[in-house]
Amino acid sequence: MPNSMKPKILVTKHLYPEAIDFLRERVEVEYHDSDEGYPPDELLDHLRDKLGVVSQLTDKFPAAVMGALPNLKVISNVAVGFDNIDIPAATARKILVTNTPEVLTDTTADFAFTLLLATARRVVEGDAYLRSGQWRQWRIDLLCGYDAHHRTLGLVGLGRIGQAVARRARGFSMRILYYDAISAPSHVERELGLEFVSLDTLLAESDFVSLHVPLLPETRHLIGAEQLARMKKTAILVNTSRGPVVDEAALAAALASGQIAGAGLDVYEREPEVDPGLLGLHNAVLAPHIASASIDTRTKMCLMAAENVVSALEGRRPPNLVNAELWPQA
Ligand code: GLV
Repeated sequence: MPNSMKPKILVTKHLYPEAIDFLRERVEVEYHDSDEGYPPDELLDHLRDKLGVVSQLTDKFPAAVMGALPNLKVISNVAVGFDNIDIPAATARKILVTNTPEVLTDTTADFAFTLLLATARRVVEGDAYLRSGQWRQWRIDLLCGYDAHHRTLGLVGLGRIGQAVARRARGFSMRILYYDAISAPSHVERELGLEFVSLDTLLAESDFVSLHVPLLPETRHLIGAEQLARMKKTAILVNTSRGPVVDEAALAAALASGQIAGAGLDVYEREPEVDPGLLGLHNAVLAPHIASASIDTRTKMCLMAAENVVSALEGRRPPNLVNAELWPQA
């Protein structure tokens, strides 16, 4: 099909090339091949004549942006999270929103466990200690941390990623508590050996608390000073969900005062800014939002987003439609 007849889309930032090739065969692509992306006002200009956009979690789509784009039919986000998009506003304007679930579940769960172990076993501190030339000899109490095996893990949120973390925890013979808006079916609880508890019980009894909820008005600052105060002094918090689920300043204070023992974080309230209080702490392992960042998974996410946008523009139900009410089942 000549380009002039194909629907036009914008790809806001650099993507894996397999996805760009797939897109270019099917739609007319304006590709902003950079890591930075356009500033918000320029983004709007580049979107005016587009029917679709392949966006990333750093691109913001509030109601006002969508209101200025009457031609836009689909926003295909290259992420499982979609808190960068005002979903009710998209739905009201009949804009389809899609995400990239499942392909990143195991990779993200691996990374949550990586942060859990790295924090508990002080891997980053050990690396810094060795590189700075301080290591003189084996010592009985050198960099002793906490065991993960046979201890209690509390999962806040038991969606796909929470369940994948539970599978890993079983291999470490952990007791697994979980809290969610609704309990899991009993066969899932049995298969994964899970106990459904209140958030307060989870916080009080867990040695590790790992967050796996989406960012919603109800989950913003779900973990604040009050919740941190309920945790054990020996407990470790892991966050691979979204930064604003945790009150970052309260967390920095809790880590500094020894209210809790440590934190393994991949996400922050104002990325790429990190609370200065966290930066000086030895008991926080800080990663730059890379939980799904394996080459295989990021490639799959890009391809999935490409398929979603093309399906929508070819009149088929996109496989990963978030606002499913826009596509009533036959
Ligand atoms: C990453 O944070 C994602 O939502 O995929």
